Amino acid sequence: MSYFSQGSGGLVQLTHGEIQQKIAQQKLFGLDELQQYLFRFCKIMLTANRDRIKDFSIYDLTPSILLYCPPNTGKTSLCYFLFDRLKREVTNEINFYTVDIGRMLDPNLGQSSRNLEQIFQDLHELCKDNSSVFLLLDELDSFCMSRSRAQENDGVRRAMTTLMQELDKLSPVTHNQFLVFGITNVPYFVDPAVVRRFSIKKLADSRLSRNEFNNYLNYLSKPLGYKPTNKELDKLYDLYQSRDFTAGDIKALYKVLLVDVLCGEQDIIIPDTLLNLFETGFLTREHLANTHKELSHGKPGSLGNG
Ligand SMILES: Nc1ncnc2c1ncn2[C@@H]1O[C@H](COP(=O)(O)OP(=O)(O)OP(=O)(O)O)[C@@H](O)[C@H]1O
Ligand SMILES: [Mg+2]
Repeated sequence: MSYFSQGSGGLVQLTHGEIQQKIAQQKLFGLDELQQYLFRFCKIMLTANRDRIKDFSIYDLTPSILLYCPPNTGKTSLCYFLFDRLKREVTNEINFYTVDIGRMLDPNLGQSSRNLEQIFQDLHELCKDNSSVFLLLDELDSFCMSRSRAQENDGVRRAMTTLMQELDKLSPVTHNQFLVFGITNVPYFVDPAVVRRFSIKKLADSRLSRNEFNNYLNYLSKPLGYKPTNKELDKLYDLYQSRDFTAGDIKALYKVLLVDVLCGEQDIIIPDTLLNLFETGFLTREHLANTHKELSHGKPGSLGNG
């Protein structure tokens, strides 16, 4: 990981090796279709010829993508997988950058905005000479809350305005090599003016089909030397649906199961323990819904409503 010079507060580059390390033991389930769609989109943008680019200009189509979904559904991982595939299959001349928002936001008035401007300036420089940029703006909501809801200070609001201006500066003619991914868990809290500036907005919903669920459970069970029976899978899939787990929640249950297997006083019966975990385990979506209720004083939000 490399932090850029002091001036570009918050810009971080992850090397291909670092990304590969992050995804080395990972496998995503339920996101194949979206991943394929986004891969094709990025590939078309990165390899477009002049005629294609003229078409893009008619619609102001830039490679800017907003991914939204509750936490723990695989959004950030999906970006790592996508970058890895683009690097291997489309162009080696692409580099991955992200913004450390904690470092970008600065208590000095106007400094956050200047940091963000500098970040984009640095990336525009890097984009010259046929190099491509994959920029991940994760946790976008941390500085792009809707103006009507926002309690934030002036500096944060200015940073949001700067982001909108920078997204406006991206032109289909000159920036087809500049991929920008924004991610948020709470799209209805993100300012509609920011949301609309992303060309593509996709729900990264990894709700698993029965078949994907079976594959995921077999994959997670394997290191434990356990193979769930069809009857067990039926029960667990019912619980998965009725309790509305995310894919990440299920992985977290297996984490507990592994620790129980390794550290429990007595030998545990894996199917019983797993069933119990599915019946009582932590639910990200439920937790998020409760948090929203508190934030919006009981009024549910909806995408784009601000
Ligand atoms: N669809 C999925 N298939 C397999 N594993 C998943 C999936 N979604 C999430 N996970 C696992 O859950 C963990 C969290 O994933 P990730 O950080 O990509 O989610 P996220 O949506 O970005 O979460 P957050 O919004 O909290 O940042 C990772 O270990 C990841 O491998
Ligand atoms: Mg994430």
